[in-house]
Amino acid sequence: MQDKYLEFITPTRVVYQCGGAAQASDLTGRIGVERPYIVADEGVARAGLVDTVVGTLDPAGIFLEVPADGDLETAERIAADMKEKKADGLVALGGGSVIDTAKGANIVFTMGGKLEEHQGVGVIPARLSPFIVIPTTAGTGSEVSRVAALKDSALQQKLFFESEYLAADVALLDPEMTKTLPPKLTAATGMDALTHAVEALLSSNEGPLTNALATYAVNAIFEWLPVAVKEGGNLDARAHMLFASTAAGAAFSSAGVGVVHACSHGLGVLCGLHHGLANSIMLPHGVRFNLPGPHPNVSADMPERLAELARECGLPATLREVGVEEDRLPAVSEYAEGDASMIYNPREANAGDLLKVLKNAY
Ligand SMILES: [Fe+2]
Repeated sequence: MQDKYLEFITPTRVVYQCGGAAQASDLTGRIGVERPYIVADEGVARAGLVDTVVGTLDPAGIFLEVPADGDLETAERIAADMKEKKADGLVALGGGSVIDTAKGANIVFTMGGKLEEHQGVGVIPARLSPFIVIPTTAGTGSEVSRVAALKDSALQQKLFFESEYLAADVALLDPEMTKTLPPKLTAATGMDALTHAVEALLSSNEGPLTNALATYAVNAIFEWLPVAVKEGGNLDARAHMLFASTAAGAAFSSAGVGVVHACSHGLGVLCGLHHGLANSIMLPHGVRFNLPGPHPNVSADMPERLAELARECGLPATLREVGVEEDRLPAVSEYAEGDASMIYNPREANAGDLLKVLKNAY
């Protein structure tokens, strides 16, 4: 511990209420938002969740065209529409892509300019416009994280934005909003949350506070993810998964992630693989790579337990099964080597090392 410098920040007010999204106007009112702007996607709308929130808010505008992989252009379009409709705050209703896109929109809406001008660490100097997140998946942790990752379609690359001002003002955890998520997506997003927790525990930047949250999240996910996958309408399981995902989000937001996320970002950008699915497949192999010996935070049998949980949740175990072409792996490994997730990976890894990890997962 003597050689470490640690900071733990989690500025978001986390509110849990089953059915709370139907009363979201209480929360927007509390933070002084009179003309909220709702960001969601078509899937969320089809599940009827936008209607639930619109029923309580009197929104200045609604944007439903967020793509599966949020990008800069979409965030800028939202910011322009918010200006035009004179919105005074944002409500993001969705999974990671929706939340990160809303974060990007909030940067441009509040600060102006082009979104890519604000990328990087600590670039945003002051508070942004009021921002409420209602997650519809239990995975991303973006409702409490200080980061947003958005695709630059021209560069074929993810740009990262990191600032304490990117954390939501309020995260509303309402299991009614996750109970319609289909089993496959429940499983894949849940494995994303587990990856956040496990990578936070292995990070070179781990510390007692992030470990407490991450250890809680790992235990809760092992207990409740299979239940949420098998019984989607089980509100207890959905509630526990929301708390686990939020705890894991707070943990990795301060501790960082590592090799699994680095590979998953490459697999997402270059092969179009779903983030949670990529993490689920890479997780046992990344942990094995990072665990050359005993570790105080993670037991030696963790890689096997992770693979077993993914199997129990009906997820594929290899990159081959999900259609990744083997000849793409060298490019993925080079992408991963330069990914920001590698900063706090506990072991040095060059593209050659990462290619071995990717091949183990093939
Ligand atoms: Fe993730």
